[in-house]
Amino acid sequence: MAQRTPARTPHDWWRSAVIYQVYVRSFADGDGDGTGDLAGVRARLPYLAELGVDALWFSPWYQSPMKDGGYDVADYRAIDPAFGTLAEAEKVIAEARELGIRTIVDIVPNHVSDQHPWWRAALTGGPERELFHFRAGRGDHGELPPNDWKSEFGGPAWTRLPDGDWYLHLFAPEQPDLNWAHPAVRQEHEDILRFWFERGVAGVRIDSAALLAKDPRLPDFVEGRDPHPYVDRDELHDVYRSWRGVADEYGGVFVGEVWLPDSERFARYLRPDELHTAFNFSFLACPWDARRLRTSIDETLAEHAPVGAPATWVLCNHDVTRTVTRYGRADTGFDFATKVFGTPTDLALGTRRARAAALLSLALPGAVYVYQGEELGLPEADIPRDRIEDPMHFRSGGTDPGRDGCRVPLPWVAEAPYAGFGSREEPWLPQPADWPAYAAGLQAEDPGSMLSLYRQAIRIRRTTPGFGDGALTWLPSADGVLAFARTEGLVCMVNLSETPAELHRDSRLLLSSGPLDDHGRLPQDTAAWLLI
Ligand code: GLC
Repeated sequence: MAQRTPARTPHDWWRSAVIYQVYVRSFADGDGDGTGDLAGVRARLPYLAELGVDALWFSPWYQSPMKDGGYDVADYRAIDPAFGTLAEAEKVIAEARELGIRTIVDIVPNHVSDQHPWWRAALTGGPERELFHFRAGRGDHGELPPNDWKSEFGGPAWTRLPDGDWYLHLFAPEQPDLNWAHPAVRQEHEDILRFWFERGVAGVRIDSAALLAKDPRLPDFVEGRDPHPYVDRDELHDVYRSWRGVADEYGGVFVGEVWLPDSERFARYLRPDELHTAFNFSFLACPWDARRLRTSIDETLAEHAPVGAPATWVLCNHDVTRTVTRYGRADTGFDFATKVFGTPTDLALGTRRARAAALLSLALPGAVYVYQGEELGLPEADIPRDRIEDPMHFRSGGTDPGRDGCRVPLPWVAEAPYAGFGSREEPWLPQPADWPAYAAGLQAEDPGSMLSLYRQAIRIRRTTPGFGDGALTWLPSADGVLAFARTEGLVCMVNLSETPAELHRDSRLLLSSGPLDDHGRLPQDTAAWLLI
Protein backbone atom coordinates (compact mmCIF):
# COMPACT_ATOMS: atom_id res chain seq x y z
CA MET A 1 0.00 0.00 0.00
CA ALA A 2 2.96 2.32 0.64
CA GLN A 3 3.39 4.66 -2.31
CA ARG A 4 6.65 4.54 -4.14
CA THR A 5 5.88 7.02 -6.92
CA PRO A 6 9.07 8.90 -7.77
CA ALA A 7 8.91 12.57 -6.80
CA ARG A 8 10.82 15.33 -8.52
CA THR A 9 13.58 15.31 -5.92
CA PRO A 10 15.98 12.46 -5.09
CA HIS A 11 15.83 10.14 -2.10
CA ASP A 12 17.75 12.46 0.21
CA TRP A 13 15.30 15.20 -0.74
CA TRP A 14 14.99 16.24 2.89
CA ARG A 15 18.56 17.53 3.01
CA SER A 16 17.65 20.47 0.76
CA ALA A 17 13.86 20.59 0.83
CA VAL A 18 11.51 23.55 1.12
CA ILE A 19 8.82 22.31 3.48
CA TYR A 20 5.51 24.12 3.89
CA GLN A 21 3.66 23.85 7.19
CA VAL A 22 -0.10 23.44 6.87
CA TYR A 23 -2.17 24.27 9.94
CA VAL A 24 -5.30 22.65 8.51
CA ARG A 25 -7.79 24.46 10.70
CA SER A 26 -6.73 27.80 9.20
CA PHE A 27 -5.54 26.91 5.71
CA ALA A 28 -8.67 26.69 3.53
CA ASP A 29 -12.26 25.86 4.36
CA GLY A 30 -13.71 23.53 1.74
CA ASP A 31 -17.17 23.02 3.24
CA GLY A 32 -17.75 26.58 4.40
CA ASP A 33 -18.30 25.84 8.09
CA GLY A 34 -15.61 28.26 9.27
CA THR A 35 -12.94 25.63 9.94
CA GLY A 36 -10.26 24.69 7.46
CA ASP A 37 -10.35 21.10 6.22
CA LEU A 38 -8.82 18.54 3.89
CA ALA A 39 -11.22 19.46 1.09
CA GLY A 40 -9.76 22.96 1.34
CA VAL A 41 -6.23 21.57 1.20
CA ARG A 42 -7.03 19.44 -1.85
CA ALA A 43 -8.48 22.43 -3.64
CA ARG A 44 -5.34 24.44 -2.95
CA LEU A 45 -2.75 21.81 -3.88
CA PRO A 46 -2.15 23.52 -7.24
CA TYR A 47 -1.30 26.71 -5.32
CA LEU A 48 1.27 24.79 -3.29
CA ALA A 49 2.69 23.18 -6.41
CA GLU A 50 3.03 26.59 -8.01
CA LEU A 51 4.76 27.88 -4.91
CA GLY A 52 7.23 25.09 -5.59
CA VAL A 53 7.50 23.42 -2.20
CA ASP A 54 8.88 19.89 -1.88
CA ALA A 55 6.80 18.73 1.07
CA LEU A 56 3.89 19.62 3.30
CA TRP A 57 4.06 19.22 7.06
CA PHE A 58 0.57 18.91 8.45
CA SER A 59 0.11 20.01 12.04
CA PRO A 60 -1.98 17.32 13.78
CA TRP A 61 -5.05 16.46 11.72
CA TYR A 62 -6.22 13.67 14.01
CA GLN A 63 -9.41 13.40 15.98
CA SER A 64 -9.14 15.90 18.80
CA PRO A 65 -11.29 18.00 21.11
CA MET A 66 -8.98 20.90 20.08
CA LYS A 67 -8.08 22.01 23.57
CA ASP A 68 -4.63 22.76 22.16
CA GLY A 69 -5.34 23.19 18.46
CA GLY A 70 -5.12 19.45 17.76
CA TYR A 71 -1.96 18.81 19.82
CA ASP A 72 -4.36 16.97 22.13
CA VAL A 73 -4.93 13.80 20.14
CA ALA A 74 -7.85 11.48 20.91
CA ASP A 75 -7.18 9.00 18.10
CA TYR A 76 -3.93 8.98 16.12
CA ARG A 77 -5.44 6.80 13.40
CA ALA A 78 -8.50 8.93 12.66
CA ILE A 79 -8.86 12.34 11.05
CA ASP A 80 -10.83 14.90 13.01
CA PRO A 81 -14.36 14.95 11.55
CA ALA A 82 -14.14 18.74 11.22
CA PHE A 83 -11.23 18.18 8.81
CA GLY A 84 -12.50 15.15 6.89
CA THR A 85 -11.91 11.42 6.84
CA LEU A 86 -8.99 9.05 6.70
CA ALA A 87 -9.88 8.27 3.09
CA GLU A 88 -9.58 11.98 2.32
CA ALA A 89 -6.21 12.20 4.05
CA GLU A 90 -5.05 9.33 1.85
CA LYS A 91 -6.24 11.31 -1.15
CA VAL A 92 -4.36 14.40 0.01
CA ILE A 93 -1.19 12.33 0.35
CA ALA A 94 -1.64 10.73 -3.07
CA GLU A 95 -2.69 13.89 -4.91
CA ALA A 96 0.15 15.91 -3.42
CA ARG A 97 2.55 13.18 -4.44
CA GLU A 98 1.28 13.35 -8.01
CA LEU A 99 2.30 17.01 -7.96
CA GLY A 100 5.73 16.01 -6.67
CA ILE A 101 4.98 17.06 -3.10
CA ARG A 102 5.67 14.78 -0.15
CA THR A 103 3.70 14.66 3.08
CA ILE A 104 4.95 14.89 6.65
CA VAL A 105 2.58 14.14 9.54
CA ASP A 106 2.90 15.43 13.08
CA ILE A 107 3.15 12.86 15.88
CA VAL A 108 2.55 14.01 19.46
CA PRO A 109 4.18 11.38 21.67
CA ASN A 110 4.52 13.26 24.95
CA HIS A 111 0.84 13.32 25.80
CA VAL A 112 -2.64 12.39 24.64
CA SER A 113 -6.00 14.12 24.85
CA ASP A 114 -8.18 13.52 27.88
CA GLN A 115 -10.60 12.01 25.33
CA HIS A 116 -8.11 9.31 24.34
CA PRO A 117 -9.38 5.80 25.22
CA TRP A 118 -6.29 5.08 27.34
CA TRP A 119 -6.95 8.09 29.52
CA ARG A 120 -10.63 7.33 29.87
CA ALA A 121 -9.78 3.79 30.94
CA ALA A 122 -7.15 5.11 33.34
CA LEU A 123 -9.74 7.31 35.00
CA THR A 124 -11.89 4.32 35.80
CA GLY A 125 -8.91 2.77 37.59
CA GLY A 126 -7.93 0.26 34.90
CA PRO A 127 -4.38 -1.00 34.25
CA GLU A 128 -4.09 1.89 31.76
CA ARG A 129 -3.22 4.02 34.78
CA GLU A 130 0.33 2.69 34.36
CA LEU A 131 0.51 4.40 30.98
CA PHE A 132 0.42 7.82 32.65
CA HIS A 133 2.06 9.48 35.64
CA PHE A 134 -0.25 9.26 38.65
CA ARG A 135 0.99 10.11 42.13
CA ALA A 136 -0.32 10.84 45.56
CA GLY A 137 -0.04 14.48 46.57
CA ARG A 138 2.23 15.96 49.21
CA GLY A 139 1.04 17.67 52.37
CA ASP A 140 -0.91 16.14 55.25
CA HIS A 141 -3.89 15.38 53.09
CA GLY A 142 -2.23 15.06 49.71
CA GLU A 143 -3.44 18.53 48.89
CA LEU A 144 -0.14 19.65 47.34
CA PRO A 145 1.14 18.55 43.92
CA PRO A 146 3.67 15.66 43.98
CA ASN A 147 6.46 17.98 42.84
CA ASP A 148 7.10 21.56 41.79
CA TRP A 149 7.15 21.14 37.99
CA LYS A 150 5.51 23.89 36.00
CA SER A 151 3.37 23.42 32.91
CA GLU A 152 4.88 24.82 29.70
CA PHE A 153 1.67 26.81 29.43
CA GLY A 154 1.96 28.23 32.96
CA GLY A 155 0.65 27.00 36.30
CA PRO A 156 1.45 23.66 37.92
CA ALA A 157 2.12 20.59 35.79
CA TRP A 158 -0.17 18.54 38.03
CA THR A 159 -3.94 18.33 38.39
CA ARG A 160 -5.78 16.50 41.15
CA LEU A 161 -8.56 14.09 40.32
CA PRO A 162 -11.70 13.63 42.41
CA ASP A 163 -10.27 10.32 43.69
CA GLY A 164 -7.44 12.30 45.32
CA ASP A 165 -4.58 11.29 43.01
CA TRP A 166 -2.66 13.79 40.92
CA TYR A 167 -1.58 13.34 37.29
CA LEU A 168 1.21 14.98 35.32
CA HIS A 169 0.66 17.23 32.30
CA LEU A 170 3.56 19.30 30.99
CA PHE A 171 1.03 21.21 28.87
CA ALA A 172 -2.71 21.73 29.48
CA PRO A 173 -4.63 19.56 31.99
CA GLU A 174 -6.48 18.12 28.97
CA GLN A 175 -3.11 16.72 27.77
CA PRO A 176 -2.00 14.06 30.30
CA ASP A 177 1.63 12.99 29.82
CA LEU A 178 2.34 9.42 28.80
CA ASN A 179 4.68 7.22 30.78
CA TRP A 180 7.46 6.47 28.33
CA ALA A 181 9.00 3.92 30.67
CA HIS A 182 6.07 1.63 29.82
CA PRO A 183 6.67 -0.76 26.89
CA ALA A 184 3.06 -0.41 25.66
CA VAL A 185 3.61 3.31 25.09
CA ARG A 186 6.63 2.59 22.94
CA GLN A 187 4.89 -0.20 21.07
CA GLU A 188 1.84 1.94 20.35
CA HIS A 189 3.88 4.77 18.88
CA GLU A 190 5.87 2.50 16.62
CA ASP A 191 2.55 1.11 15.40
CA ILE A 192 1.31 4.65 14.76
CA LEU A 193 4.46 5.42 12.76
CA ARG A 194 3.86 2.32 10.67
CA PHE A 195 0.22 3.23 10.22
CA TRP A 196 1.15 6.56 8.58
CA PHE A 197 4.18 5.31 6.66
CA GLU A 198 1.91 2.61 5.21
CA ARG A 199 -0.33 5.40 3.97
CA GLY A 200 2.47 6.93 2.00
CA VAL A 201 3.73 9.71 4.21
CA ALA A 202 7.37 10.58 3.64
CA GLY A 203 8.14 11.93 7.06
CA VAL A 204 7.11 12.59 10.62
CA ARG A 205 7.49 15.69 12.72
CA ILE A 206 7.95 14.78 16.37
CA ASP A 207 6.21 17.13 18.76
CA SER A 208 8.00 18.15 21.98
CA ALA A 209 10.60 15.56 21.08
CA ALA A 210 12.93 16.21 24.03
CA LEU A 211 10.31 15.98 26.78
CA LEU A 212 9.07 12.38 26.69
CA ALA A 213 11.31 10.74 29.28
CA LYS A 214 10.85 11.59 32.95
CA ASP A 215 13.01 10.83 35.96
CA PRO A 216 11.03 7.93 37.51
CA ARG A 217 11.45 9.44 40.96
CA LEU A 218 9.72 12.64 39.73
CA PRO A 219 11.95 14.83 41.90
CA ASP A 220 11.55 18.58 42.32
CA PHE A 221 13.24 20.67 39.68
CA VAL A 222 16.60 22.07 40.80
CA GLU A 223 18.07 24.84 38.65
CA GLY A 224 21.24 23.67 36.93
CA ARG A 225 21.07 20.09 38.17
CA ASP A 226 22.03 17.56 35.57
CA PRO A 227 20.23 15.57 34.29
CA HIS A 228 17.03 17.56 34.09
CA PRO A 229 14.06 15.58 35.44
CA TYR A 230 12.16 15.76 32.14
CA VAL A 231 14.07 17.68 29.45
CA ASP A 232 16.55 15.95 27.15
CA ARG A 233 17.07 12.78 29.18
CA ASP A 234 19.46 10.16 27.87
CA GLU A 235 16.77 7.44 27.80
CA LEU A 236 15.17 9.24 24.86
CA HIS A 237 17.91 8.32 22.43
CA ASP A 238 17.04 4.67 22.74
CA VAL A 239 13.44 5.51 21.79
CA TYR A 240 14.54 7.42 18.69
CA ARG A 241 17.02 4.77 17.61
CA SER A 242 14.17 2.33 17.64
CA TRP A 243 11.94 4.76 15.69
CA ARG A 244 14.70 5.19 13.16
CA GLY A 245 14.57 1.47 12.50
CA VAL A 246 10.88 1.81 11.67
CA ALA A 247 11.43 4.86 9.43
CA ASP A 248 14.22 3.09 7.56
CA GLU A 249 11.87 0.28 6.60
CA TYR A 250 9.85 2.86 4.64
CA GLY A 251 12.50 5.38 3.65
CA GLY A 252 10.76 7.85 5.95
CA VAL A 253 12.41 10.81 7.65
CA PHE A 254 12.03 12.61 10.95
CA VAL A 255 12.13 16.22 11.99
CA GLY A 256 12.25 16.72 15.72
CA GLU A 257 10.88 19.63 17.65
CA VAL A 258 13.90 19.94 19.90
CA TRP A 259 14.22 23.26 21.77
CA LEU A 260 17.57 22.95 23.56
CA PRO A 261 20.08 25.68 24.39
CA ASP A 262 23.04 23.29 24.43
CA SER A 263 24.14 22.65 20.84
CA GLU A 264 26.16 19.56 21.69
CA ARG A 265 23.11 17.99 23.39
CA PHE A 266 20.92 19.08 20.46
CA ALA A 267 23.21 17.38 17.95
CA ARG A 268 22.90 14.05 19.76
CA TYR A 269 19.37 13.73 18.40
CA LEU A 270 20.80 13.98 14.89
CA ARG A 271 23.29 11.15 15.12
CA PRO A 272 23.12 8.92 12.03
CA ASP A 273 20.92 6.29 13.71
CA GLU A 274 18.48 8.78 15.27
CA LEU A 275 16.52 11.69 13.76
CA HIS A 276 17.32 12.95 10.29
CA THR A 277 16.68 16.61 11.11
CA ALA A 278 15.46 18.92 13.87
CA PHE A 279 14.09 22.44 13.86
CA ASN A 280 16.66 25.17 14.27
CA PHE A 281 15.03 27.37 16.90
CA SER A 282 18.16 29.41 17.61
CA PHE A 283 17.85 30.93 14.13
CA LEU A 284 14.11 31.54 14.65
CA ALA A 285 14.76 33.30 17.93
CA CYS A 286 17.73 35.33 16.65
CA PRO A 287 17.31 39.12 16.46
CA TRP A 288 17.71 40.97 13.16
CA ASP A 289 21.35 41.77 13.70
CA ALA A 290 24.16 40.85 11.31
CA ARG A 291 26.64 39.71 13.91
CA ARG A 292 24.16 37.65 15.85
CA LEU A 293 22.72 36.07 12.73
CA ARG A 294 26.19 35.15 11.55
CA THR A 295 26.96 33.59 14.92
CA SER A 296 23.70 31.68 14.85
CA ILE A 297 24.43 30.39 11.34
CA ASP A 298 28.00 29.41 12.24
CA GLU A 299 26.93 27.64 15.41
CA THR A 300 24.17 25.83 13.58
CA LEU A 301 26.51 24.56 10.88
CA ALA A 302 29.17 23.65 13.42
CA GLU A 303 26.77 21.63 15.56
CA HIS A 304 25.35 19.73 12.59
CA ALA A 305 28.67 18.97 10.89
CA PRO A 306 29.99 16.26 13.24
CA VAL A 307 26.81 14.19 12.93
CA GLY A 308 26.44 14.74 9.18
CA ALA A 309 22.89 16.08 9.47
CA PRO A 310 21.63 18.97 7.35
CA ALA A 311 20.54 22.15 9.12
CA THR A 312 16.99 23.46 8.95
CA TRP A 313 16.07 27.14 8.74
CA VAL A 314 12.83 28.30 10.32
CA LEU A 315 11.57 31.87 10.67
CA CYS A 316 8.17 31.12 12.15
CA ASN A 317 5.56 28.47 12.87
CA HIS A 318 2.15 28.08 14.54
CA ASP A 319 3.64 28.77 18.00
CA VAL A 320 5.56 32.01 17.49
CA THR A 321 5.02 35.62 16.46
CA ARG A 322 4.76 36.00 12.69
CA THR A 323 7.98 37.09 11.01
CA VAL A 324 6.92 40.48 9.58
CA THR A 325 5.63 41.49 13.01
CA ARG A 326 8.64 40.27 14.94
CA TYR A 327 11.09 42.05 12.64
CA GLY A 328 9.05 45.25 12.88
CA ARG A 329 9.48 45.56 16.64
CA ALA A 330 12.18 47.00 18.87
CA ASP A 331 12.98 43.46 20.05
CA THR A 332 13.36 41.44 16.86
CA GLY A 333 14.21 38.17 18.62
CA PHE A 334 11.65 35.68 19.86
CA ASP A 335 11.02 34.54 23.40
CA PHE A 336 7.78 33.06 24.74
CA ALA A 337 8.40 34.76 28.07
CA THR A 338 8.33 38.30 26.69
CA LYS A 339 5.09 38.21 24.69
CA VAL A 340 2.63 40.91 25.75
CA PHE A 341 -0.37 42.68 24.28
CA GLY A 342 0.06 45.95 22.42
CA THR A 343 3.73 45.83 21.36
CA PRO A 344 4.37 48.69 18.87
CA THR A 345 5.15 47.34 15.41
CA ASP A 346 6.38 48.92 12.17
CA LEU A 347 4.99 46.50 9.59
CA ALA A 348 6.63 48.15 6.58
CA LEU A 349 10.03 47.73 8.23
CA GLY A 350 9.22 44.21 9.38
CA THR A 351 8.08 43.23 5.90
CA ARG A 352 11.24 44.57 4.27
CA ARG A 353 13.33 42.56 6.69
CA ALA A 354 11.18 39.46 6.31
CA ARG A 355 11.69 39.60 2.55
CA ALA A 356 15.44 39.78 3.08
CA ALA A 357 15.28 36.99 5.67
CA ALA A 358 13.40 34.78 3.20
CA LEU A 359 16.26 35.05 0.69
CA LEU A 360 18.77 34.53 3.47
CA SER A 361 17.18 31.33 4.75
CA LEU A 362 16.54 29.95 1.27
CA ALA A 363 20.24 30.42 0.44
CA LEU A 364 21.63 28.75 3.56
CA PRO A 365 22.79 25.12 3.45
CA GLY A 366 20.05 22.67 4.35
CA ALA A 367 16.25 22.56 4.41
CA VAL A 368 13.87 25.50 4.84
CA TYR A 369 10.46 25.60 6.50
CA VAL A 370 7.73 28.02 5.42
CA TYR A 371 4.70 28.40 7.65
CA GLN A 372 1.40 28.97 5.84
CA GLY A 373 0.83 32.67 5.33
CA GLU A 374 4.52 33.48 5.67
CA GLU A 375 4.66 33.50 1.86
CA LEU A 376 1.85 36.11 1.98
CA GLY A 377 3.69 38.26 4.50
CA LEU A 378 0.82 37.97 6.96
CA PRO A 379 1.34 39.89 10.18
CA GLU A 380 0.52 38.61 13.65
CA ALA A 381 -3.16 39.47 14.21
CA ASP A 382 -4.64 41.01 17.33
CA ILE A 383 -7.35 38.61 18.43
CA PRO A 384 -10.14 40.15 20.52
CA ARG A 385 -9.81 38.71 24.01
CA ASP A 386 -13.20 37.08 23.94
CA ARG A 387 -12.23 35.12 20.82
CA ILE A 388 -8.87 33.78 22.01
CA GLU A 389 -8.79 29.98 22.25
CA ASP A 390 -5.15 29.22 22.99
CA PRO A 391 -4.60 27.66 26.44
CA MET A 392 -1.31 29.51 26.68
CA HIS A 393 -3.25 32.74 27.04
CA PHE A 394 -5.55 31.42 29.76
CA ARG A 395 -2.87 29.66 31.75
CA SER A 396 -0.74 32.83 31.80
CA GLY A 397 -3.57 34.49 33.71
CA GLY A 398 -4.43 36.45 30.57
CA THR A 399 -1.12 38.34 30.24
CA ASP A 400 0.29 36.30 27.34
CA PRO A 401 -1.68 37.03 24.12
CA GLY A 402 -1.18 33.38 23.21
CA ARG A 403 -0.51 31.90 19.80
CA ASP A 404 -3.80 32.50 17.99
CA GLY A 405 -2.45 35.68 16.37
CA CYS A 406 -0.36 33.56 13.97
CA ARG A 407 -3.16 31.05 13.35
CA VAL A 408 -5.74 33.26 11.67
CA PRO A 409 -7.48 31.70 8.64
CA LEU A 410 -5.68 32.56 5.40
CA PRO A 411 -6.93 35.15 2.89
CA TRP A 412 -7.26 33.70 -0.60
CA VAL A 413 -9.55 36.01 -2.59
CA ALA A 414 -9.76 39.73 -1.84
CA GLU A 415 -13.38 40.27 -2.92
CA ALA A 416 -14.89 37.09 -1.50
CA PRO A 417 -16.53 36.77 1.92
CA TYR A 418 -13.98 36.02 4.64
CA ALA A 419 -11.28 36.82 2.09
CA GLY A 420 -12.06 33.54 0.37
CA PHE A 421 -11.13 31.33 3.33
CA GLY A 422 -14.57 29.77 3.38
CA SER A 423 -17.99 30.62 2.11
CA ARG A 424 -20.76 30.37 4.72
CA GLU A 425 -19.76 30.64 8.35
CA GLU A 426 -17.42 33.13 9.92
CA PRO A 427 -13.92 31.66 10.38
CA TRP A 428 -13.16 30.10 13.77
CA LEU A 429 -10.76 32.99 14.49
CA PRO A 430 -11.68 36.46 13.25
CA GLN A 431 -9.68 37.87 10.35
CA PRO A 432 -8.43 41.46 10.70
CA ALA A 433 -10.20 44.06 8.53
CA ASP A 434 -7.19 44.45 6.23
CA TRP A 435 -6.87 40.70 5.55
CA PRO A 436 -8.25 40.94 1.96
CA ALA A 437 -5.25 43.10 1.00
CA TYR A 438 -3.04 40.06 1.70
CA ALA A 439 -5.11 37.66 -0.42
CA ALA A 440 -3.09 35.12 -2.38
CA GLY A 441 -5.10 35.91 -5.53
CA LEU A 442 -4.12 39.59 -5.41
CA GLN A 443 -0.53 38.84 -4.63
CA ALA A 444 -0.22 36.38 -7.48
CA GLU A 445 -0.92 39.27 -9.89
CA ASP A 446 1.57 41.62 -8.25
CA PRO A 447 5.23 41.04 -9.16
CA GLY A 448 6.31 43.04 -6.11
CA SER A 449 4.31 40.97 -3.60
CA MET A 450 5.69 38.66 -0.93
CA LEU A 451 4.06 35.72 -2.73
CA SER A 452 5.82 36.60 -5.99
CA LEU A 453 9.12 36.86 -4.14
CA TYR A 454 8.66 33.39 -2.57
CA ARG A 455 7.60 31.87 -5.89
CA GLN A 456 10.58 33.30 -7.73
CA ALA A 457 13.01 32.46 -4.97
CA ILE A 458 11.87 28.86 -4.65
CA ARG A 459 11.92 28.44 -8.43
CA ILE A 460 15.46 29.82 -8.69
CA ARG A 461 16.53 27.72 -5.71
CA ARG A 462 15.21 24.62 -7.45
CA THR A 463 16.69 25.29 -10.88
CA THR A 464 20.06 26.88 -10.05
CA PRO A 465 22.94 24.70 -8.87
CA GLY A 466 24.53 25.61 -5.54
CA PHE A 467 21.47 25.90 -3.30
CA GLY A 468 20.40 23.48 -0.57
CA ASP A 469 22.65 21.05 1.25
CA GLY A 470 26.38 21.72 1.13
CA ALA A 471 29.04 24.11 2.33
CA LEU A 472 29.04 27.85 2.96
CA THR A 473 32.00 30.24 2.78
CA TRP A 474 31.82 33.70 4.30
CA LEU A 475 33.08 36.47 2.04
CA PRO A 476 34.77 39.65 3.21
CA SER A 477 32.10 42.28 3.76
CA ALA A 478 31.45 45.63 5.42
CA ASP A 479 30.13 45.84 8.97
CA GLY A 480 26.49 44.85 9.14
CA VAL A 481 26.57 43.00 5.84
CA LEU A 482 26.29 39.24 5.56
CA ALA A 483 27.89 37.84 2.42
CA PHE A 484 28.53 34.20 1.73
CA ALA A 485 29.25 31.98 -1.22
CA ARG A 486 27.79 28.58 -1.93
CA THR A 487 29.18 26.45 -4.76
CA GLU A 488 28.81 27.17 -8.50
CA GLY A 489 29.48 30.90 -8.09
CA LEU A 490 26.35 31.47 -6.09
CA VAL A 491 26.53 34.34 -3.58
CA CYS A 492 24.00 35.67 -1.07
CA MET A 493 24.32 39.16 0.41
CA VAL A 494 22.14 40.68 3.10
CA ASN A 495 22.61 44.28 4.15
CA LEU A 496 21.54 44.99 7.71
CA SER A 497 23.50 48.24 7.93
CA GLU A 498 22.47 51.78 7.06
CA THR A 499 25.17 52.08 4.42
CA PRO A 500 24.27 50.78 0.95
CA ALA A 501 26.45 47.80 0.03
CA GLU A 502 28.28 47.42 -3.29
CA LEU A 503 27.48 44.24 -5.16
CA HIS A 504 30.37 42.19 -6.48
CA ARG A 505 31.57 43.82 -9.71
CA ASP A 506 31.47 40.81 -12.02
CA SER A 507 28.23 39.40 -10.79
CA ARG A 508 24.84 38.83 -12.29
CA LEU A 509 21.86 39.62 -10.08
CA LEU A 510 19.54 36.62 -9.82
CA LEU A 511 17.03 38.10 -7.40
CA SER A 512 16.79 40.76 -4.74
CA SER A 513 14.29 41.18 -1.96
CA GLY A 514 13.78 44.86 -2.85
CA PRO A 515 14.98 47.37 -5.43
CA LEU A 516 18.67 48.32 -5.61
CA ASP A 517 19.45 52.02 -5.21
CA ASP A 518 20.24 54.38 -8.10
CA HIS A 519 23.90 53.34 -7.99
CA GLY A 520 23.06 49.65 -8.19
CA ARG A 521 23.88 49.11 -4.52
CA LEU A 522 22.06 46.96 -1.98
CA PRO A 523 20.07 49.16 0.44
CA GLN A 524 19.50 48.51 4.13
CA ASP A 525 17.38 45.47 5.05
CA THR A 526 17.65 44.05 1.55
CA ALA A 527 19.09 40.75 0.34
CA ALA A 528 20.37 39.70 -3.06
CA TRP A 529 21.34 36.48 -4.79
CA LEU A 530 24.19 36.83 -7.25
CA LEU A 531 26.02 34.61 -9.69
CA ILE A 532 29.70 35.32 -9.97
C1 GLC B 1 4.52 21.79 20.52
C2 GLC B 1 3.55 22.36 19.52
C3 GLC B 1 2.61 23.27 20.23
C4 GLC B 1 1.87 22.47 21.28
C5 GLC B 1 2.83 21.75 22.21
C6 GLC B 1 2.13 20.70 23.00
O1 GLC B 1 5.33 22.76 21.06
O2 GLC B 1 4.24 22.99 18.47
O3 GLC B 1 1.71 23.87 19.35
O4 GLC B 1 1.05 23.32 22.03
O5 GLC B 1 3.84 21.09 21.51
O6 GLC B 1 1.77 19.62 22.19
